[in-house]
Amino acid sequence: MPRMVMRVALLASECEPWAKTGGLADVVDALARALGRLPEAGTEIAAPVDVFLPRYRSVPVPADAVGEPALRIEDPAGGAPIEVAIVDVAADGYRLRLVDVPRAFDRDAFYDHPDDPWRFAVLCRAALAALRRDGTPLDVLHVHDWHTGPALLERARGEAAGDPLFADLAVVATLHNLAYHGWTPLAQLGQLGLAPGEPLAGTNPDGIDLLLTSIERSEVVNTVSPGFAREALMPAFGMGLDGALRAKGDRFIGILNGIDPTVWDPATDTALAAPYMRGSLGGKAACRRDLLGRLGFDPDDEGVVAGTIGRMDPQKGFDLLADGARDLLEAGVRIVVQGSGHASLADPFRALAAANPTRVALIERFDRDMARRIYAGADLFLMPSRFEPCGQGQMIALRYGTPPVVRRTGGLADSVIDVDDRPGEGTGFVFDRATPAALVAAIGRATALRAEDGSAWAALVDRGMAVDFAWDTGPASAYLGAYRRAVAIRRG
Ligand code: GLC
Repeated sequence: MPRMVMRVALLASECEPWAKTGGLADVVDALARALGRLPEAGTEIAAPVDVFLPRYRSVPVPADAVGEPALRIEDPAGGAPIEVAIVDVAADGYRLRLVDVPRAFDRDAFYDHPDDPWRFAVLCRAALAALRRDGTPLDVLHVHDWHTGPALLERARGEAAGDPLFADLAVVATLHNLAYHGWTPLAQLGQLGLAPGEPLAGTNPDGIDLLLTSIERSEVVNTVSPGFAREALMPAFGMGLDGALRAKGDRFIGILNGIDPTVWDPATDTALAAPYMRGSLGGKAACRRDLLGRLGFDPDDEGVVAGTIGRMDPQKGFDLLADGARDLLEAGVRIVVQGSGHASLADPFRALAAANPTRVALIERFDRDMARRIYAGADLFLMPSRFEPCGQGQMIALRYGTPPVVRRTGGLADSVIDVDDRPGEGTGFVFDRATPAALVAAIGRATALRAEDGSAWAALVDRGMAVDFAWDTGPASAYLGAYRRAVAIRRG
């Protein structure tokens, strides 16, 4: 029997470097590239993998992008048919297919518009129309977070109508964040082409939860670490979806994200003042001086500089750091925060930086180069998240030789080993309680080790830099396994 070659498409609301607000974008891009490399290893995914993404206003369309012939789809909300332009971009290792519907996507912000259910229903319908027109059967559609939940509604409708595109089409759904459900109340059901009470609208009489739709109707569901997959089964972390996830049984799994070791490499990172690598860390000291100089901190002060980077979202625990900052400053720790998002979460850091301009810095924007300088130039990297499906900063920090201080939750607990728990294997500092005191105590352990035992510190840094988080090593083949499984389930 000939080996089956699977055709796979990813459908998402973000993809680095085209459109990013968070880690979802990095994962979609890195996974698509890693999948594209799998055929060389003799596995069975057809190259190139397609990634469908909205063409938001800010998406930079390269000059060599190729427009496909115009498509016309039915308006999910029942209005006049919608013209869709699909623009193909040869991305690095995959084919990016931008879904261009100006009425839906030519706006300033990606999210939080009153017609979001409609916008993402249009995305899903348009992507599936493009795949139908391709003529080559699609085996696996890989959807991400709530924005691509409407694809499951499309499949159910298409199946009922006998559309051949859907006969064998398996769906894998990845949950990057359970906090955002795409809740669509009754009054907005029409945006999805649903009427209250019809079977597709699900069992909730008040509306439809698009993330729940993805969970219930996909063949295989995963979240982005084994630790968070266990937590998500419990009411405290499941955000109302734990029951649906428990019901999924062994069709709900955890796959730890990777990072791309070529994208994140202090030996080649052009944003850094000097290159460095495992075993040759001279450049890291130059990066530290450079960072401190840019921040207006004293570069000759050897005291700990703790950095953190993330979306300003309650999830990330920035408030724990803000509330612990006074104790940290008293202990001689300096703090660098880079974040974008909820401005109110940055308020305390703005005040701290104004009062202590040479000891606290706030970079209130998403700045790629500055982020790299923080990963390299800081002495510690903080991730005090309340919950964290995976997290990426801790992995980058390890690779950049900057030991992470993390809460024992989700993917953080799966990727950082506490050095006091396992002295010969530890890569960072892990704390349990979501309190400022617990964070301050963990930073205190780090500060003491760094000051008192240079060789133990160097060994800790070295072990962290040696950890292999590459997509190709583990996660990409775990997704391949999930795709195979989904296909087998779908074909019964
Ligand atoms: C979300 C999660 C984060 C994860 C990322 C990529 O942003 O909050 O933990 O790393 O998605 O999967």
